[in-house]
Amino acid sequence: MKLAVIGTGYVGLVTGACFANLGNDIICVDKDKERLLILEKGEVPFYEPGLPEMVMRNHKAGRIIFTSDLSHAVKKADVIFIAVGTPPKANGQADVTAVFEVAKDIAKNIKGNKSFKVIVNKSTVPVGMGDIVTKILVENNVSEKYFSVVSNPEFLREGSAISDFLNPDRIVIGASNNKAFNIITELYRSLNARIIFTSVKSAELIKYASNAFLATKISFINEIANICERVGSDIKEVAYAVGMDKRIGREFLNAGLGYGGSCLPKDISALLHLARENGYDPQILNSVSEVNEFQIDAFIGKIIKTLKNIRGKKIVLLGLSFKPETDDLRDAPSLKIINSLTKKGAIIKAYDPAAETTAKKTLPNVQFCKDIYEALKGADAIVLATEWPEFRDLDFEKVKKIVKNPVIFDGRNIYDPKRIREMGFKYIGIGR
Ligand code: UDX
Repeated sequence: MKLAVIGTGYVGLVTGACFANLGNDIICVDKDKERLLILEKGEVPFYEPGLPEMVMRNHKAGRIIFTSDLSHAVKKADVIFIAVGTPPKANGQADVTAVFEVAKDIAKNIKGNKSFKVIVNKSTVPVGMGDIVTKILVENNVSEKYFSVVSNPEFLREGSAISDFLNPDRIVIGASNNKAFNIITELYRSLNARIIFTSVKSAELIKYASNAFLATKISFINEIANICERVGSDIKEVAYAVGMDKRIGREFLNAGLGYGGSCLPKDISALLHLARENGYDPQILNSVSEVNEFQIDAFIGKIIKTLKNIRGKKIVLLGLSFKPETDDLRDAPSLKIINSLTKKGAIIKAYDPAAETTAKKTLPNVQFCKDIYEALKGADAIVLATEWPEFRDLDFEKVKKIVKNPVIFDGRNIYDPKRIREMGFKYIGIGR
């Protein structure tokens, strides 16, 4: 099929590359000319394992092209994906300006067209956006006979985006008619995944509800971790056994620094806003968000309390990205830790396998190191902020010799406290 994908961010680019890889012809559209130049070279403007290779391969084969010419793309395409950003406004509401603009541009450019096109919203948008996009097209004299708006939320995670896209637990297609539903179903046919047909409005809410539930699981386990700390239980043991109950499930029960990233925090805020706007004050979601704030503040509090006067102390952060296998720093706990400690006069050094370039733009007062052990030299404390695999098996004998003060704050509970303590370190984890 011929597809246009508007927006070459995470969701847009992964969608484009994966559909191209399945044999479709993709035109990826973006207004950002610099980004297009990078993509033209076969490079990807962010870190995502496997994506550059997939983009390059399909670009060379002519199945994926990059352009700023939205008009050409939408005229050629049978299916048009809207995959632009919906960042949070200051009040938490999702900013849908980009979706509005794209809808207007599509309308202007397919006016008078006589072939049926499906417009698919992949961006995470407030419930009702599908109807608004339809209205924009109709107001611009595009006949409803020739288009239909579908909601097809994307559930991929950064760091495992390709595999998540190609092996989804379910594909949700929110459509108002069988014709549009069948076209999108056909597009996904080769994935052999479970397809769920819903109304457009349900599909829009499914995305928010899914992310809200994941965030709830994280805040829940963080709350239990905080109880563990006070009563002497170990959250790793508790979460493992709790998660063995099939009704609960093991995933998303890792206590830590709380959820960050480009989706969970923004989607919880947007859902809270959507609910309030519609006359309901959601109590669980409110608490989920509050526990998440508390979690990082409590961790920073532990660092300050343990190190006492931190002015002039050299604190080394292992990991900066909000999770492993990405260079994304959006809502990363490391940022809040660094800002709080820097304000109190600490000297921050950091090592991250992928996020150094992104981090340099926002963290001018941090000294970045190319090597873990170089970073740890003379450290007054080690703060593990991201559970990159290479931090799991550190040579602690060596670490002990090069640090000034053997203290580890393990924000992701990746180390065995007993073993670390036996090696002469002070260990402070979460809920243990
Ligand atoms: C999330 C959703 O998982 C995905 O379905 C949606 O499409 C986009 O948002 P992503 O933000 O890429 O994906 O990462 P995810 O793996 O979900 O982690 C989100 C945050 O939760 C990270 O900060 C992570 O560290 C944290 N987390 C996750 C925990 O603190 N504990 C856990 O057990 C799992």
